[in-house]
Amino acid sequence: MPLQSSVTAPAKPSSHAFSPGAAAALDVAAGLDLAGQYRLLAGTGNAEGRHFLAQAVLGYADGVAGAEDGAEQAVPVPVLAGLRHAARSSAGKLALLLGSGAEEQGAFGNLRLFADACERLLLRIADVRSFDSPAIHPLYALVESATVFEIGHDLRSIGRRLGVDPRTQPRLAAELVTQRQVDDEALIAANVVLSLASFPVQRLAQIVGFAGALWGAVAMLGAGRPQALAYRAARRAAVAAARGVIGTAGSQSDVLRGARLFGHCVGWLVEATRETDEKIRDRAKAVLDSKAGYAMLHHRGQSLGGKPLLEWFSEESFRAHDMLEALAASPWIAADQVDQSRLFTALLAPGGRMYGVFNDKDIAALKAYFRLPPERRAHPAGHVVDPAYARAIAGRRERATLLDDAAQARFADLRLAYHVLINAEQHPFALATARDVVEKNLAKFRALREAIETQPLYRRFDYAPAAFEERIARIYYLHAEQNEVADLSFDEEALRLLHLYFSPFALVDGCWLRDASAHRHESEVTAILARIFADEIGNSRHEHNHANVYRRLLGELGWNLPAVDDWAYAADERIPTAAFKAPGFLLASNLLHADFFPELLGVNLAIEMSGLDGFYAAMIRDLEARGHTADFWRLHISVDNFSTGHSHQSVVAIVRYLEEVQRAHGEAVMQAAWARVWDGLMTMMYLFGIEFRVLFGARKHANA
Ligand SMILES: [Fe+2]
Ligand SMILES: [Fe+2]
Repeated sequence: MPLQSSVTAPAKPSSHAFSPGAAAALDVAAGLDLAGQYRLLAGTGNAEGRHFLAQAVLGYADGVAGAEDGAEQAVPVPVLAGLRHAARSSAGKLALLLGSGAEEQGAFGNLRLFADACERLLLRIADVRSFDSPAIHPLYALVESATVFEIGHDLRSIGRRLGVDPRTQPRLAAELVTQRQVDDEALIAANVVLSLASFPVQRLAQIVGFAGALWGAVAMLGAGRPQALAYRAARRAAVAAARGVIGTAGSQSDVLRGARLFGHCVGWLVEATRETDEKIRDRAKAVLDSKAGYAMLHHRGQSLGGKPLLEWFSEESFRAHDMLEALAASPWIAADQVDQSRLFTALLAPGGRMYGVFNDKDIAALKAYFRLPPERRAHPAGHVVDPAYARAIAGRRERATLLDDAAQARFADLRLAYHVLINAEQHPFALATARDVVEKNLAKFRALREAIETQPLYRRFDYAPAAFEERIARIYYLHAEQNEVADLSFDEEALRLLHLYFSPFALVDGCWLRDASAHRHESEVTAILARIFADEIGNSRHEHNHANVYRRLLGELGWNLPAVDDWAYAADERIPTAAFKAPGFLLASNLLHADFFPELLGVNLAIEMSGLDGFYAAMIRDLEARGHTADFWRLHISVDNFSTGHSHQSVVAIVRYLEEVQRAHGEAVMQAAWARVWDGLMTMMYLFGIEFRVLFGARKHANA
């Protein structure tokens, strides 16, 4: 069949093009310091600025870890030997860091930051585009079993010895950054890992290599300890994943590159603990810089080096170096006995006037500065970790391309939207498409609200847990009654077409929960979503992944379709355009989970309860009567069930979420959040109405 004129291949948007309005966000991202970059990369939401930054940081990492590619081609390294080598050489360095330095806050902060980033490396690895890759399921098993969160085990116990409150640990890395308890090199290592984690499909082979070296190293370190078992399981999973990706083009060198990148990260951690004059100077200056505001408030009458303190700090650009030198020349500092200086014994010590203003690390930084001989304090140049890092980011900003409005508008087309939303990893402008898709669908439901609410069960009500649960049950019974009298039977050809039409939905099964469930450790609600997501993708069993089960059924029905991320799939005109509408909304909701979280919870419930009302049963009856396998529908009747299954868990997620909101913000805000949950639920039910019209259209087309 010839392609319709409306379905022309998209003029390929250049990879990593941004939306028309993204320039300011890119400027902000490009201007961030290392700590600001960390915050953006570790944040919960997807944003074009974050995409840009992650891409830029990986550009730098490619330069660092790719430098040895040439040598490797001359003497090819078998992948598993390469992983072992990277693990062994890093294990020794890590042992030294853990043994000697970790008890001091400095090395602890750096290691904790890095471990935290590593724990996030695999959280988003299960993507609809890689569902058919044998590499992802063994790796996702580590997320599911929480083995990835074991990596910080040693550090958590060290943290406890240092008096770090275990309850603050989930937020600890961010706090360490805020309190400047980490060094620049450690921030680079963490930023590289978080950037890698931002491209779980494109960088899969590198992630596999990185993970292989990482768990190889911790398994060596952990030998004989209780958690060694988990680490060894993780190493085996990474090796299995490496076997799973080897064979695809270029993957072998990418796996090795990922392993080398891990080695470089450990190298940066070692570097972070190495003192240099520049670092000592920079740290001392940063201490004063950060206290300028405090000093302005509290030192009105004091002076230093013949100049009032107020004047020191109010100068256009505060010259921390000059002030440090003035301090060094003042009676506050004893050059030969820095520790005994009055600054530290009288002013900053317990009982002193400025006690508590500087933390231990600040004081250590100042002491280190004053211990340097004057000639080594004098160099004006600041400490720059690696000039190539900043160059990579600036260079990427210069080359970044922005779409124009007309190009962006084209992606509102349902097929194009589906295509770019699936491939958002290459197309940051898809975040603008996603916003458009989510907002338009929510608005469409609101415009139809009055008509929809002629059915009283679809009318919103004030939230109370019991009323909510009862209403959901009544909606379920209503749908079941409607289906009991409806004709749900399909003949062979109609059944084939129906399954083709449903494929844009079924082949991305679970997609709406991918990014939200990456934050599984942050709340009970995200943990529930993560459990549902884990089921959707087959509980780490490749053959049980719902999308993979569906693809087998498609094969049985004679459909051999391209991969969902291929344009050839979205452009396949045998599939009606409207069949891309509901799944496009789900892909978009996933990308914007942070902004539309209440709606997402409602959307999720609508999906998990759909079909239990008799539709799945009808599919099973019709398929099996014709000798086909109905696994896809059977497994959903069991896994989505109302007593303990996904439907029930989705109700619980909403109840827990609203409890959280009520506790934190009170009744009024909770009811507002509830209104958004309800709108999400109803919008998805409205979209199911469209989806079912598409599916039932299969009968008409079959007989045409
Ligand atoms: Fe499913
Ligand atoms: Fe489900």
